[in-house]
Amino acid sequence: MYIYDQYDQRIVDERVSQFRQQTRRYLAGELNEAEFLPLRLQNGLYVQRLAPMLRIAVPYGLLNSRQLRKLAHITRHYDKGYAHVSTRQNIQLNWPQLEEVPDILAELASVQMHAIQTSGNCIRNTTTDQFAGVAADEREDPRPWCEIIRQWSTLHPEFAFLPRKFKIAVCASEQDRAAIHAHDIGLEILANDQGEHGFRVLAGGGLGRTPVIGSVVCEWLEKRHLLTYLEAILRVYNQHGRRDNKFKARIKILVKAMGIEQFRAAVEREWESLRDGPSTLTEQEIARAQSFFTAPDYAAVDGGASARELRTRCEAEPIFGNWVRRNTAAHRVPGYQAVTISLKATGFAPGDVTDTQLELLANLADQFSFGELRTTHQQNMVLADVRQTDLYALWQRLQAAGLATPNIGYLTDVICCPGGDYCSLANAKSIPVAEAIQARFEDLDYLYDLGPIELNISGCMNACGHHHIGHIGILGVDKKGAEFYQVSLGGSQSREAAIGKILGPSFSQQDMPEVIDKILGTYVDLRREEETFLQTYNRVGIDPFKERVYARTH
Ligand code: HEM
Ligand code: SF4
Repeated sequence: MYIYDQYDQRIVDERVSQFRQQTRRYLAGELNEAEFLPLRLQNGLYVQRLAPMLRIAVPYGLLNSRQLRKLAHITRHYDKGYAHVSTRQNIQLNWPQLEEVPDILAELASVQMHAIQTSGNCIRNTTTDQFAGVAADEREDPRPWCEIIRQWSTLHPEFAFLPRKFKIAVCASEQDRAAIHAHDIGLEILANDQGEHGFRVLAGGGLGRTPVIGSVVCEWLEKRHLLTYLEAILRVYNQHGRRDNKFKARIKILVKAMGIEQFRAAVEREWESLRDGPSTLTEQEIARAQSFFTAPDYAAVDGGASARELRTRCEAEPIFGNWVRRNTAAHRVPGYQAVTISLKATGFAPGDVTDTQLELLANLADQFSFGELRTTHQQNMVLADVRQTDLYALWQRLQAAGLATPNIGYLTDVICCPGGDYCSLANAKSIPVAEAIQARFEDLDYLYDLGPIELNISGCMNACGHHHIGHIGILGVDKKGAEFYQVSLGGSQSREAAIGKILGPSFSQQDMPEVIDKILGTYVDLRREEETFLQTYNRVGIDPFKERVYARTH
């Protein structure tokens, strides 16, 4: 994990004291609303429906146990005893008091955390695979590249006032677990025929009002050129992106307007003057970033024996076996597994985690996973390095804390934005819809029979809940002042990313579980053996779903 040097620490500390002064002046009436706005946004502070919302940066989702304990302390003392994991791997606080935010930032700085650049029109937190560095299907560890991008982008003077916010995601595995097609820039580390690694660069993806799947700008970029090439893309965007209309300001609109060929040509032209310049990455610089992500002290384990022992345990206690099957993932080191902690228990807002759970997770990270934990863009958490022989003890502790719901990748592992419960932009509530669906489909056998299904919910078209790329997407809409929900099907955030298609007229909140039930029923009736929901949908199209859902309701 990256450790701050003296300069990082000083910059973060200085920022806290600046913001303390700015907040004091605002509260004393010396700064008006408009003057305070850019200052608070530069420090991750939004104005929300009921209280401010503070978004804390979690670089590429990585946290250590000290930071988790600090977050537990902050939520207990300054908030209502829980934190929220966002779809960009950050942590959000929904109830801080404005006058206490400088104190919260000072607490965060003491554990090398901050909220800088978590809002505003700058390059936001770079996100990646939650299994980075341990995934069995990984080509190389993407985290050093995220760190290189982080150091380059944080407080980058040229890119502090872009036309709109800018999001970069990196993936280096067979499966895309970072939704790179839905980002302003998506980077995929690939291998060529000689086994060398390079970047495939996508640009112009994004959700929100106009959802777009990113286009390939560069099929193969040598790694040392990463920053100069990113710089070229950002310059083209900074110069040509629209600043006259907020809804047309994202890079996706520019790429669409120019066409990918012309956009690529503009980037290449810009790159000519940057290529091989001072931002070219040297071997030493790459090695320096890689040195922060060395493998922990894994035990030398007999993988075969360890796996056999685990299998016996799973057979002896099927509930445990079930959790292992659903919530753990293959690890590249024999005898280890990565564990996903579900923050999707029925009755809790998806992605919420309490102060006591945070403390428990810190202890479990220390005991079982080298003191580290990750957040995921599906709003869960991960202990990446757990010995197979420890899984049983870990599971018992998680179960006691309500953190062992065996539903990762299934219908009730819902992605959901805060919606009308907190967010002032919402058209409709989203958390109660998620909860009603979770409650209706609690039967695990039925969930497993349905197979992997991604259900994503947003409270408005800003699409924070990624509804466009859910296999089933739900969008809160406003109809003459009443809250309604539009359903879309067939979205995907995988390597074959797709934007879902709208099913038809929207539904009331109480109709939603029934609507989902009909969609699932249609799938179950039409699926061929072993077909997933998405495969069936792609084969049969939207019409059979439409017919069934609207047969009686309309
Ligand atoms: C509660 C206060 C929030 C506000 C005011 C807010 C605001 C917005 C806005 C205005 C957009 C649309 C941007 C655009 O496409 O032009 C957006 C998109 C987005 N927000 Fe939020 N958001 C909030 C909470 C969240 C939360 C809780 C999450 C994560 C769970 C989140 C993550 C995202 C993501 C991932 C997008 C994606 C859109 C894209 O990729 O284009 N935001 N948000
Ligand atoms: S999708 Fe809309 S309602 Fe949901 S958090 Fe984003 S801005 Fe708010």
